[in-house]
Amino acid sequence: MILIDHISKSFDGGRTYAVRDLSLCAETGQTLVLLGSSGCGKTTTLKMVNRLVDADAGRIELGGQDVRTMDLLQLRRSVGYVFQGIGLFPHMTVAENIGVVLRLNGVGRAEREARAQAMLELVELDPDTFADRYPRHLSGGQQQRVGVARALASEPEYLLMDEPFGALDALTRETLQAEVLRLKAKLHKTILFVTHDIFEALALGDVIAVMHAGHLEQVGTPGELLRRPATAFVESLFGKPRSQLMAFAEHLQ
Ligand SMILES: Nc1ncnc2c1ncn2[C@@H]1O[C@H](COP(=O)(O)OP(=O)(O)OP(=O)(O)O)[C@@H](O)[C@H]1O
Ligand SMILES: [Mg+2]
Repeated sequence: MILIDHISKSFDGGRTYAVRDLSLCAETGQTLVLLGSSGCGKTTTLKMVNRLVDADAGRIELGGQDVRTMDLLQLRRSVGYVFQGIGLFPHMTVAENIGVVLRLNGVGRAEREARAQAMLELVELDPDTFADRYPRHLSGGQQQRVGVARALASEPEYLLMDEPFGALDALTRETLQAEVLRLKAKLHKTILFVTHDIFEALALGDVIAVMHAGHLEQVGTPGELLRRPATAFVESLFGKPRSQLMAFAEHLQ
């Protein structure tokens, strides 16, 4: 499981906080969605989990182990990270990008290539067309799919996904959302998933944490947030999906 225990992070010596006193827990096999508007601290939270950013205060544990006591390489190998804004290595082909962590793990070339092929098929990119291309020769949405393939390739126990489907059209987005649900059911990954799309949060989250200006507004299941919003902010956020769901329920009667 992923345990986040009273973490805080300030980038300006404590004048303002990107994340303030945040506590959350994703149980093994759960998807915890961080939902909130731009600048509320979602990416900073993910980065603290794999120590791209060090927390000022608090503690983060993966499977009961404090991330600060973990070897950095070991930490990054057990965590798949889909970066916001893609972050593929420009000098590596698509297949090399997908195999980058496998190579760190000492997996040989033939197996890396086979794995890259399987991952490309998973995200619905034709391996014959895309495996040997460089990222600059792909569209934004195709690059995002390669980013997802790369994070999944080494079968990490934990996945951090930072708006992984942001640049995709609605249809591809739904396909990949379904893929995340399928993988989760099959592989029991523990996932932190960042989005500012409330419908994506409702579709994917076992638990949704609503963040606002660095702090947690409310955490609960989709049903709890829809039925019992704890703050005016959550109430307004879930107003639209609630009215749509109610209209849908009436339609069924
Ligand atoms: N390296 C940094 N140095 C200074 N300030 C930073 C740094 N990284 C993030 N911040 C600030 O911390 C706050 C939270 O940023 P963060 O990237 O976590 O937001 P976010 O919720 O991911 O937003 P978005 O939805 O736009 O990606 C913002 O005010 C941002 O400007
Ligand atoms: Mg972000």
